[in-house]
Amino acid sequence: EVETGLYFITQQDAQHLVKPRKKFSHKGLYGHALLLCGGFGKMGAAVLAARACLRGGVGLLTIQAPQVGYTVLQTAVPEAMTLTDKNRKHLSELPNEITKFDVIGTGPGLGTERVTKTAIGQLLATAQQPLVIDADAINIIAGSEKLKAQLPKNKVILTPHPKEFERLVGKVKNDYDRLQHLREFCAEYQCYVTLKGSHTAIGTPEGKVYFNTTGNSGMATGGTGDVLTGIITALVGQQYTLEEACLLGVYVHGLSADLALHTVGAISMTASDVIDHLPKAFLHLS
Ligand code: APR
Ligand code: MG
Repeated sequence: EVETGLYFITQQDAQHLVKPRKKFSHKGLYGHALLLCGGFGKMGAAVLAARACLRGGVGLLTIQAPQVGYTVLQTAVPEAMTLTDKNRKHLSELPNEITKFDVIGTGPGLGTERVTKTAIGQLLATAQQPLVIDADAINIIAGSEKLKAQLPKNKVILTPHPKEFERLVGKVKNDYDRLQHLREFCAEYQCYVTLKGSHTAIGTPEGKVYFNTTGNSGMATGGTGDVLTGIITALVGQQYTLEEACLLGVYVHGLSADLALHTVGAISMTASDVIDHLPKAFLHLS
């Protein structure tokens, strides 16, 4: 504890959080995640989130995507099941049997078309399971007071980068002000927020703030945020609490990039490299 309610996440914390797998376990114990991701020209974001979700240890993964995503996902992520939307280019509907999923992650690559806004509205109004909300799903919610008010309490993790965070809370004056806004937002909406940056800050509904200590400038490249969405979704699916999933998720995401430094360096690092080093990162913590 640095100051009241402010903490750093240490390697020891992360090691304590990781749950070893049980010998007589089966995929049903590790959760069935649903990702609502991707759109025309942005299917890569869905692929990254999906591959990271699988490396994060989820038991089963289904992705719902617009029709243009079908072949992409079936080819790039053979471990996942793909459901296709009635819309060709943009996500516009929720799957029929949505209650069977343990967690829903959404945002990467979605775009902000009207049909997608409607689908996100339906998600907030009806979903019973925990939600991991990123990227364009945050932008959609930030653009509507009605949707903001519909965020279900104690069920949501939002993972904004600083610009997305400002869309949610308004203009931020400085780092201190950003921290105040983080605490106020988490308290008002009773949600978790991982505010991404070189030191990602995690806000909790009770007013605590945790700072991550892993990660490097190699992560400043398109798609690394989508990887985090996949990891956190996987952890929530495995019954980590929302707080645990945020802490372990950001830590292992950064650790993975730190391990990738040895082989690819900061300049050449891509989001796929971060996914590829996740196995080593989890081994490091086990
Ligand atoms: N040091 C440590 N970590 C960093 C650094 C750094 N210098 N720079 C970035 N990161 C980490 C952040 O903490 C975060 O986890 O990389 C990730 C970047 O995430 P995003 O900002 O969401 O970027 P990304 O998602 O890859 O961008 C692609 O997604 O959010 C949308 O519209 C956005 O088009 C964008 C798209
Ligand atoms: Mg992003």
